[in-house]
Amino acid sequence: MHEVLSDWDGENALISYDARTGSHLFIALHSRRLGPAAGGTRLRTYPTPADALRDATLLARAMTYKMAVAGLPMGGGKSVLAVPGELSPEDRRHLLLRHAHNVETLHGSYSTGPDVGTSSEDMDVLHEHTTYAFGRSPARGGSGSSAPDTAVGVFHGISAAVAHVNGSATLAGVHVLVQGCGAVGEPLVGMLVEAGARVTVSDVVPERVEALQIKYGVAVSAPDDIDIDIDVYAPCAFGQVVGAATIPRLRCRVIAGAANNVLVDASDGERLQEAGILYAPDFVINAGGAVHLIGYEGLGWSTEQVDAGLRGIGTTLAQIFRDADSQGVSTERAAELLAEARLAAGPTSAE
Ligand code: NAI
Ligand code: PHE
Repeated sequence: MHEVLSDWDGENALISYDARTGSHLFIALHSRRLGPAAGGTRLRTYPTPADALRDATLLARAMTYKMAVAGLPMGGGKSVLAVPGELSPEDRRHLLLRHAHNVETLHGSYSTGPDVGTSSEDMDVLHEHTTYAFGRSPARGGSGSSAPDTAVGVFHGISAAVAHVNGSATLAGVHVLVQGCGAVGEPLVGMLVEAGARVTVSDVVPERVEALQIKYGVAVSAPDDIDIDIDVYAPCAFGQVVGAATIPRLRCRVIAGAANNVLVDASDGERLQEAGILYAPDFVINAGGAVHLIGYEGLGWSTEQVDAGLRGIGTTLAQIFRDADSQGVSTERAAELLAEARLAAGPTSAE
């Protein structure tokens, strides 16, 4: 774990161990340069505690960049609850309340929200011990799940990427592979089908793809089948799916999906540039959840303002694609440069 922290440029990490459930709890607070940090709580099983901490630190950094590019007055952080396996409802509640206590000790330097493995109902539980939890269920005064708006943002991002490579934003006849049909992937499939795209889906849970096959008549591929002829690859499951080993197998023109930390490492941005694949940087295209949670709950935005923020994801990506072309850098680098310029300028430029 020492190695993970010494490789990281974040502000602070809070680490604890819960003996009752055998779980490690991590909060990685990366940066408060643009405002108090925010980022979801991920609950899953990892090979080692160090892997869980690494995930938390990298995801927290991505949140800093996400907030900066989206123009939200927030910093970046992330929580990981690394569980040994499925927990009983009582143990899960116990762990969430312990996490809430940890969040509360940070006195608002960090607020959390839902992420992979947690839901609005879990945020309701956290709220019993901390006010710093976005995304509670609407019945409890929250703005509910961020996933549908994340899907809207990804849809705008896919349209912007297709416009960049085709000269037209129309998705009619464009072949999109949606890998992972969960809370974000499923509504994304609906929007793509409605826009006339040809959609192929994959998921490790067969019932999820079967339901979409019945509802929309979409094609189905095996979960890790990425070497099929498609126009757009939309990773909407886990990250680390695009790297030196997978890039030579890809037969798409665009990568644009919801998953956080899609690239195995930063140099994969250049690999994609060399391969002629247009990459929509994850921390830009998947900002819809942050726009939803921070917009409604942190900034008191109306639905119109949130919708404008979601459309802005497409506009920002179009600018990043043009910047990358004119500067001769990868789209990942162009997006990082935009985030770093906003971070260097400080809070006022992000409002
Ligand atoms: P989810 O857990 O609801 O859905 C993930 C889906 O991927 C599940 O259906 C799962 O069975 C499937 N899956 C897992 N491994 C797979 C594999 N190897 N191949 C194909 N499918 C696989 O999660 P959610 O909320 O839809 O998030 C998806 C991604 O988007 C995550 O990486 C998350 O970090 C990211 N994201 C989510 C946001 C949100 O508001 N929910 C916001 C920003 C990013
Ligand atoms: N976990 C989601 C993300 O990665 C949504 C989220 C945004 C949660 C901001 C908390 C704060 O964007």
